[in-house]
Amino acid sequence: MERTKIIDVLRSEATGSDVLVKGWVRSFRANRFIALNDGSTIKNIQAVVDFENFDEAILKKISTGAALAVTGTLIASQGSGQAVEIQVKEIEVLGEADPEELRKTVMQPKRHSLEFLREQAHLRFRTNTFGAVFRIRHAVAFAIHKFFNDRGFFYLHTPIITGSDAEGAGEMFRISTLDPINPPLTEDGEVDYKQDFFGKQVNLTVSGQLEAELGAMALGQVYTFGPTFRAENSNTSRHLAEFWMIEPEVAFNNLKDNMDLTEDFLKYIADYVLTNCEDDLQFLHDREVKEDSQKPTAERNELNLMDRLKFVVDNEFKRLTYTEAIEVLKRSKPYKKGKFKYDVEWGIDLQSEHERYLVEKEFKCPVILTDYPSEIKAFYMRQNDDGKTVAAMDVLFPGIGEIVGGSQREERLDMLRKKCGDFNVSEEELDWYLDTRRFGTAEHAGFGLGFERMVMFVTGMTNIRDVIPFPRTPQNAEF
Ligand code: 4AD
Ligand code: MG
Repeated sequence: MERTKIIDVLRSEATGSDVLVKGWVRSFRANRFIALNDGSTIKNIQAVVDFENFDEAILKKISTGAALAVTGTLIASQGSGQAVEIQVKEIEVLGEADPEELRKTVMQPKRHSLEFLREQAHLRFRTNTFGAVFRIRHAVAFAIHKFFNDRGFFYLHTPIITGSDAEGAGEMFRISTLDPINPPLTEDGEVDYKQDFFGKQVNLTVSGQLEAELGAMALGQVYTFGPTFRAENSNTSRHLAEFWMIEPEVAFNNLKDNMDLTEDFLKYIADYVLTNCEDDLQFLHDREVKEDSQKPTAERNELNLMDRLKFVVDNEFKRLTYTEAIEVLKRSKPYKKGKFKYDVEWGIDLQSEHERYLVEKEFKCPVILTDYPSEIKAFYMRQNDDGKTVAAMDVLFPGIGEIVGGSQREERLDMLRKKCGDFNVSEEELDWYLDTRRFGTAEHAGFGLGFERMVMFVTGMTNIRDVIPFPRTPQNAEF
């Protein structure tokens, strides 16, 4: 008989017929009720064993975590909680989960902390929470491709190994095949990267934007969706050393077009998850409600998970300039009472406490901040006529902070070259990029969405490590 996935069995109305399911035991009660899960859905199928007439040797091998193939008749369920169940005829134990080991270590049916589960890579995937998170993560990735494909964007694969430092932040992982103990040296005694694999110094990409700009200036609208690496030593709940970023880039768009595209995009993703991930979302929603009920009122979420998603879909994002935001912050209670840890002054890089105040206390909705001081933003952003600010935009989300960073790009060659000088960016190394401004330059704009930060938002998970299968953070690259 062919295997049926549990998601399809649970939807099936073919009671009375035989089915074969395969999966892992979630629980085995009273030597009679097996809850089986195969990952296709958060829901389990209940398989009921007539244990008095069943091979005892087989029953002994059934324990939480074991892999089974179960054949039986699909019947309307006797118990509450499920519409159908399987009346077992035959069980094949595909893989035992040694009960001795279980007792000693991990597979107890109690709830494990998320931190503990990070160290139990195999078990982590088997829990309801992470099953839900990773199914939703998939749905978000799929929605992103669909959004852009439906709008005529082209998916562009930008390189992972690159010689350029797109963000000019210098926090890159270097790649080399030179002998680390005895590298070849130049006459001046420095490492001779000419003899390295690529004949020069290269690193893992911090952004595919510069390459995407070349694509956009020919294909019109492109997007990248790939792994991104930053060697910043930020051990926070919102930073990974390896994360995924989506970077659309559109020819002939200005900052306003860019904001409109971002807002449509983020709303589309939230709506897609609400519509397509019902069971998993409901589980995470209920989980959060339960956790909140054990917290002091001040620490609870003002809106629960589903309402937060609906809120994003239904409400316009608040748009204001950096300069206006500084004024709002200076008028705020925490500022006047000296409650902010960092000072507020025009020209500062906003700290997460400032961003959170704007989003969570002042406007209580997603915020798009624009027109930041030139000095605190990247060299490629378009200079505004005031000579002080650039056409930048950051999208700030409740509970997350910055989720998107983008800008209109500096398309004027002379201005861009001046910026290279100001920011100490080598024109020689970026000659290929400057060429786009020499041959048919035009207005264009784009942004970068941190994929994991978006997955945090739609799942309600509060630590970025819990929305990526194998997190990489300072001092941690397990598995
Ligand atoms: O603001 P960032 O640095 O912008 C860029 O890289 C531009 N090249 C994007 C563009 O205009 N095409 O990064 C974009 C987003 C951030 O808003 C954040 O959501 C996410 O990427 N991000 C990180 N996510 C997880 N861990 C990190 N270390 C991150 N650094 C940035
Ligand atoms: Mg940024």
